[in-house]
Amino acid sequence: MTKYAHITGWGMAVPERIMTNAELSKLIDTTDDWIVSHTGVRERHIAAPDQSTATLAVDAALKALELACLRPDEIDLIIVSTSSPEHVFPATACLVQDAIGASKAGAFDLSAACSGFIFALNMATQAIRSESIKTALVIGAETLSRFTNWEDRNTCILFGDGAGAFVLQASDEPGGVLSAVMRSDGSGGDLLSVPAGGSHLPASHETVSKKQHVIQMNGREVFRFAVRVMESATRESLEKAAIPLEDVTLVIPHQANRRIIESAVRGLEIPMERCMVNVDRYGNTSTASIPIATIEAIGAGRLKAGDKVVFVGFGAGLTWGAAAAVWTGPFLAPVKRKVRPVSYRLYARTRSILRRLWRHIEGIIWGRNNLDW
Ligand code: ACO
Repeated sequence: MTKYAHITGWGMAVPERIMTNAELSKLIDTTDDWIVSHTGVRERHIAAPDQSTATLAVDAALKALELACLRPDEIDLIIVSTSSPEHVFPATACLVQDAIGASKAGAFDLSAACSGFIFALNMATQAIRSESIKTALVIGAETLSRFTNWEDRNTCILFGDGAGAFVLQASDEPGGVLSAVMRSDGSGGDLLSVPAGGSHLPASHETVSKKQHVIQMNGREVFRFAVRVMESATRESLEKAAIPLEDVTLVIPHQANRRIIESAVRGLEIPMERCMVNVDRYGNTSTASIPIATIEAIGAGRLKAGDKVVFVGFGAGLTWGAAAAVWTGPFLAPVKRKVRPVSYRLYARTRSILRRLWRHIEGIIWGRNNLDW
């Protein structure tokens, strides 16, 4: 029997600190009017020094598990989509796995910039549909403020920090994520990039002084590309899922720029009320923007169980994609289990310390230089 991947839990986390356009206009030559009229952004959340991509991802993940009534050890797979990972390696997903105590989960990062959440959602869905796993945690998390050139008015006005997570669960009931479209065009890679810090241009005094470790963007070209692909990807994913556009309750686009969203909506010939927009309060949180917008739509009563929804995004790479789904909501457990994120954090921390300790003891028993075993 075909398995379906249902979205049964969700959670988001954004830093408390809000940076308004007025505050930005003290740092660079810009105005609130310019930013609002060209992008729709009014404010964005910026991570505190003790916050990072992993801490935001963990907060979002635990909320999603609580809503789905699942324990971390019931998760089979964790995918963290991010362009601002904690390190080159290990994967941010492994840090999340350890911090929540998901003892049976495989974990990896996915890098497809702002389209990453759609790509990750599709990967987890296919793993469920092929019955290789039953439960997945898909997280989009970013602290792009750490990769922003705060002197570049073309880019620093756009981005914000945050994380959003979905729990996916297998079921025989039709529904959940029904289709996805994933596309890439590497010939446009130079239009939006962080050039240094990888194997091509390793970090050096020179790369830092030339500001090659922060976001570089050709805004106009990215704008044109985004407008071109948003409508076609939305239509294609709906066609694959055999969902007529008229039946879609809500289109949830990547929140990069209000004008890009408006242009996609015009192309689709739907009213703006059928499209979720919250770029004004978060800016572009990259791969986290679609789950954050979804969760706000649920909170506002704009998305309910049984509704048909389409997610659509674009980003660096270039990448773009869309996914169509029937919204589900938490599976009703026979006896609703109490899931306590606080105790999971404590358990996970203890587990992590004990595992480190055990590795240390193993080293003593076997001898640090003895590899004959
Ligand atoms: N404040 C005031 N003036 C500004 C600012 C600013 N913050 N930024 C640019 N300007 C000026 C420019 O210098 C230019 O002046 P000039 O005509 O004297 O040269 C003028 O405003 C127009 O500049 P444009 O670049 O043409 O402005 P545009 O209308 O294209 O808006 C923007 C720029 C907002 C960046 C737009 O191009 C855009 O949103 N592009 C898409 C970016 C995007 O979505 N990126 C994220 C992709 S997702 C991911 O993967 C991370």
